[in-house]
Amino acid sequence: MKILFMKVKVGIPLDILLDGGIDNDSITNIYGPAGSGKTNICMVAAHEIFKEGGKTLYIDTEANFSFERAHQIENDFDSFMKSVILKNIYSWKEQRDTIKKLQVSDEIKLIVVDSLVSLYRLEINNNNYQEINNQLASQYAILSKIAREKKIPVLVTNQIYSSEGKIEMTSRFISRYWPKTIIELKKSKGDNNRLAIIRKHRSLSEGKYIEFEITNNGLKQVGKFKIF
Ligand SMILES: Nc1ncnc2c1ncn2[C@@H]1O[C@H](COP(=O)(O)OP(=O)(O)OP(=O)(O)O)[C@@H](O)[C@H]1O
Ligand SMILES: [Mg+2]
Repeated sequence: MKILFMKVKVGIPLDILLDGGIDNDSITNIYGPAGSGKTNICMVAAHEIFKEGGKTLYIDTEANFSFERAHQIENDFDSFMKSVILKNIYSWKEQRDTIKKLQVSDEIKLIVVDSLVSLYRLEINNNNYQEINNQLASQYAILSKIAREKKIPVLVTNQIYSSEGKIEMTSRFISRYWPKTIIELKKSKGDNNRLAIIRKHRSLSEGKYIEFEITNNGLKQVGKFKIF
C-alpha cells in the first residue's frame, strides 16, 4: 500500500483522538465556542513541534496567542518562542495577502491559522457575501495545496453561531468542504474540562470523542475515549 501522508504529533487531545496526530497532507479544522480550548490546542500543537525541533508558522488574527500561557506550557520560554513564527493580522485584506504570499521554508513543520474566520465575519455583509466567500474559499484552497504538496499539516480554528437552536460553524459550507478533519470542542462538566469530538475524518468514525482538561501547564486527558 502506498502511504501518501503521515500523522504529525500535536499533543493532547488530538494525538489520542486521531490515533497519532493530524494528517500532514490536509487541513484540520477545530471549531467551538469561546473558551472551549481552540487556541490552547493550537499552542500545544506548536509546543509539540518545538519539542521535535521544528518551527510553526502561526497566523493569529485575534491576538489570541498568549505569552503568559506559552510560559506555562514551556519553562524554556525563549527557545519555544524562537520556534514560533508569529504573524499578527489585523484586517481581512491583510489576511488575504498573507495567505496568498505565504512562504514556507523547510524548517516549518506546522501552519496554524487562529482563527481563519474572525476577520471574515467582520467583513461579510449582504452586498459582498459572494465575493468574500470566494476569498475565503481561495484561502482554504491555498492552505490545502501547501499541505498536499509540501506535506505540512495545517491547523485552523473556526468560531460558531447558533441557528434555529443548532450550533453551526461560521461559513459552514466552505469550512466543511475543505478540511479533511473537523473537530468540535465543547465545554464539559467542571470549569476546565472539555470534549473534543470528531465531526469529519477520512478513516475514523464520526462521534468518537475524548475528554480533556485545561491545566496550568497544558492539556491533559480525562478518562478514556468513547463513541457517542
Ligand atoms: N492555566 C490555566 N488553567 C486552567 N484553565 C485555563 C488556564 N489558562 C487558560 N485556561 C482556560 O482556557 C480557556 C480559554 O481557552 P482558549 O483560549 O483556548 O479558548 P478558545 O476556544 O480559543 O476561545 P476564543 O474563541 O475566545 O478564542 C478559558 O476557559 C480559561 O479559563
Ligand atoms: Mg482562541
